[in-house]
Formats: sequence, structure tokens, C-alpha cells
Amino acid sequence: MTMNDGYKIPVVGLGTWKSEPGETTYKAVLDSINTGYRHIDTARAYDNESDVGRAVKDSETGRKELFITTKLWNKHQGYDEAIEACEKSLARLGCDYIDLYLIHWPLKGKRNDSWKALIELQQRGLCRSIGVSNFTIDNLVELEEKFDILPVVNQVEFHPYYYQKELLEYCNSKNIIIEAYSPLVHAKRMDEARLVSISKEMSKTPAQILIRWAIQRGMVALPKSVNEGRIIENFSVFDFEISDSLMKRLDDLNELFVTCWDPHNPPSYAPV
Ligand SMILES: NC(=O)c1ccc[n+]([C@@H]2O[C@H](COP(=O)([O-])OP(=O)(O)OC[C@H]3O[C@@H](n4cnc5c(N)ncnc54)[C@H](OP(=O)(O)O)[C@@H]3O)[C@@H](O)[C@H]2O)c1
Repeated sequence: MTMNDGYKIPVVGLGTWKSEPGETTYKAVLDSINTGYRHIDTARAYDNESDVGRAVKDSETGRKELFITTKLWNKHQGYDEAIEACEKSLARLGCDYIDLYLIHWPLKGKRNDSWKALIELQQRGLCRSIGVSNFTIDNLVELEEKFDILPVVNQVEFHPYYYQKELLEYCNSKNIIIEAYSPLVHAKRMDEARLVSISKEMSKTPAQILIRWAIQRGMVALPKSVNEGRIIENFSVFDFEISDSLMKRLDDLNELFVTCWDPHNPPSYAPV
């Protein structure tokens, strides 16, 4: 997909939250690149940026063909702090630029200063594209009122069981791509009867159906796995299409099921 700043983003990226730092993350990233993934999603908070960087360096695919995302964590929000945090992430990744740098969480009182820093980092060439994560429509409106530069993406929890249609429509209207995190519902609905029934009808796995649903709804999907077989399975989603009627049945799975953190009802450790 082409982002609102003209750069392209691959529609499937490997998630790495809860991928254990060290060899587990290193191997998952190398396996994914060998499978054909060109997009890796990490974050300062995942503690595995250096393993991602090592795998990127050791892979036979050139850095320029890969798309690396990392994120600014809450305790580093603020203008000076964000500049320093980005430089440190770059050092851990062993890269001289980040393809996409995100504000991980819409931290109240800090997010606007952080956004100002991301604009500066982009102008300095340290980040190609800049975006946000876990932003509500209100958070995005606030940013739009204060700045000329809008995020290229908003990375949020998104799957048929948490179909945030209003947010998707708002982001589409502003040319902000939704990156669907926890697109596999954090593996909490793989056996759900209606999903299993659709997957049998399509002769595809539940994971493949969920990823394909996100792509067909116009989003980037970020499935996480550290298992080589599942990494391959999750990328085998480009040779089939879900019909309109089955897409509608998937839309109807919505039950506002939040597996991760809900910015509308944030956990105490991530104050907004
Ligand atoms: N910005 C944010 O605040 C935020 C928050 C959450 C997530 N994210 C990003 O989004 C990525 C994905 O989200 P997520 O990690 O929460 O969950 P997810 O991708 O929805 O699900 C991951 C879980 O599904 C399992 N799994 C993977 N492929 C499978 C398959 N084909 N069949 C059955 N089980 C499978 C994984 O286990 P195995 O690893 O053992 O295969 C893991 O337990 C994260 O890794 C992170 O990069 C961002």
C-alpha cells in the first residue's frame, strides 16, 4: 500500500511482541525474511530490537528491501526524550534509518511534544515515515488541529471480533492506514465455531482467513509467530480471495472483544 507521504508499506508484517529476546526473535525474523516477509514490527518496549537488527543484518535480503517499524515507549515521550530514544533504537537495530517510527501510546500531556520530535526526526532523515499507535479518533483530531503533518498509519487492535468500523472509516477519510495488531485475536478465537466453519468452506486455516479479512478491509496486518510453520502459513494469503458474502459473515463476528489494551479504557500502567 502507498502511504500518505508517498512511501510504500508491505501489507503483511511479522509481529514481535512477546517474541522472546535473543535467539527466538532472531530466528523468527530470519525465518520470516526467508519466507518472503519484507516488513518487521518491533518496539522499544518489546526488548528485542537488537535481535531484529541482527537478523536483518545476517539475512541475504538487503536492508533497502526491508521495512522496519519500531516505536517510542511511554517513558521516553516528550521532545528531547523522543529524539534520544529514536537514536538509541537506531543503534540497537544497527540501522541508519527506521522505515516507520510510531508513538506507541497516546500519552496525555506528552503526545504533542513527541509528535513534534517525530517530525524533526523525519526531517533529519532518521525516520522515513512517522505514525501513531493506539490513537482514538479524538486523539487524531487533536493532532490534526495542531500539526500540518498527519500520521501515515494508526496501529491499533483490529480483527473481526473487534471491528472498529468508525475508526477505520475516519482513518480512510484522512488517508491514514490502519495497521491491524493482534490480527489473530492473540490466538484466543482460533476454535470459534463460526470462524472454523468459514475456514472449512474456504479450505484455509482460521489464521489465514483473519489475515485475509484485514487485507481485504484495506488494512496492513501484523501477525506474530515464532513458529516457522505458522510464519509460512500466515504469509500464504495472497493466492485467494474471500467473497463479499463471507466478508460480511466475518464482519458480523464483532463482539467488541479487546485482547490487548483499550485506549478508551486504559490500564493503569499506561496512563493517558
Ligand atoms: N502497538 C501496540 O500497542 C501493539 C499491541 C499489540 C500487538 N502489536 C503488534 O502486533 C503484533 C501481533 O499482535 P499479537 O502478538 O498481540 O497477536 P496475534 O498476532 O493476533 O497472535 C499471536 C499469537 O497467535 C499464535 N499464532 C500465530 N500464528 C498462528 C497460527 N497460524 N495458528 C495458530 N496460532 C498462531 C502465536 O503463537 P506462536 O508465536 O507460538 O506461533 C501467538 O500466541 C505484535 O506482535 C506486535 O508486533 C502492537
